[in-house]
Amino acid sequence: MVLLDGKKTSEDLKIEIAKAVTKLKSEGKKTPHLAAILVGSDGASMTYVNGKVKACERVGFNSTLVELPKDTTEEILLENIERLNNDDDIDGFIVQLPLPKHIDEQKVLMVINPDKDVDGFHPTNVGRMTLDLPCYLPATPFGILELLERYKVETSGKDVVVIGRSHIVGRPMSILMSQKRAAGNATVTVAHSRSKNLKEVTLKADIIVAALGIPEFLTGDMVKDGVTIIDVGITRVPDETRKRGYRLAGDVHFESVSPKSAFITPVPGGVGPMTIAMLMKNTLLACQRKS
Ligand code: GUN
Repeated sequence: MVLLDGKKTSEDLKIEIAKAVTKLKSEGKKTPHLAAILVGSDGASMTYVNGKVKACERVGFNSTLVELPKDTTEEILLENIERLNNDDDIDGFIVQLPLPKHIDEQKVLMVINPDKDVDGFHPTNVGRMTLDLPCYLPATPFGILELLERYKVETSGKDVVVIGRSHIVGRPMSILMSQKRAAGNATVTVAHSRSKNLKEVTLKADIIVAALGIPEFLTGDMVKDGVTIIDVGITRVPDETRKRGYRLAGDVHFESVSPKSAFITPVPGGVGPMTIAMLMKNTLLACQRKS
């Protein structure tokens, strides 16, 4: 069993990005600048956004964090987005999800300038991705492709089962892995909450991407020997024995699945750190595209 070490791989990536930034600066070019909008103070969202700001510092980017109270109106949020759209120094920005219930997420994502949409959530980028055109790939699927590629996991002709059909992970992952590309050319099945006989499907899979958000859902009896496992889940499960009162659990029951796996991502330290590194990569691309 080989651990797909997202922590180490994301460090390698950040070193590569930092080198590219040093080069840009030495040529007198602009320093990449990422902004993030955070509405409210959800614990997990704050952790993610702080991680993104810290990664910017690490690779030599400028960063701006726009923190808005949880009762911010949709109108005020849209005004903030317009301001970032029109700010020439900002190369890319993200609006951290989920948003409070009174705000229409789809409407918000539509207003982001696709050229600055480093999350790759705008319909223009989703459409371009689907058509194999240059675009910003959403960071989590992009990070998974990068991990598979760097660890030379064979995907061509393999049976891939993606569990989950979210706009952020499952749906794009299924499209990307079926495309003619590195870490692609796979035969992809998308399973979801209405799928029947899921175990029959997962038992045939060479590669499983678990992205449904149910802690320890995928168990050892559901996978075949030699499977490759990508665990996208990261849920805070209450745990009184921990100082912070919770532990982080993936969608995969690691103890029973890992002995049967050829490759597997740990949680934490697998897909999560890759997501942040790929956001940095997209921001670098956004900056380079302008110059
Ligand atoms: N919430 C969970 N994942 C993401 C992500 O990749 N981007 C944003 N903006 N919000 C998220």
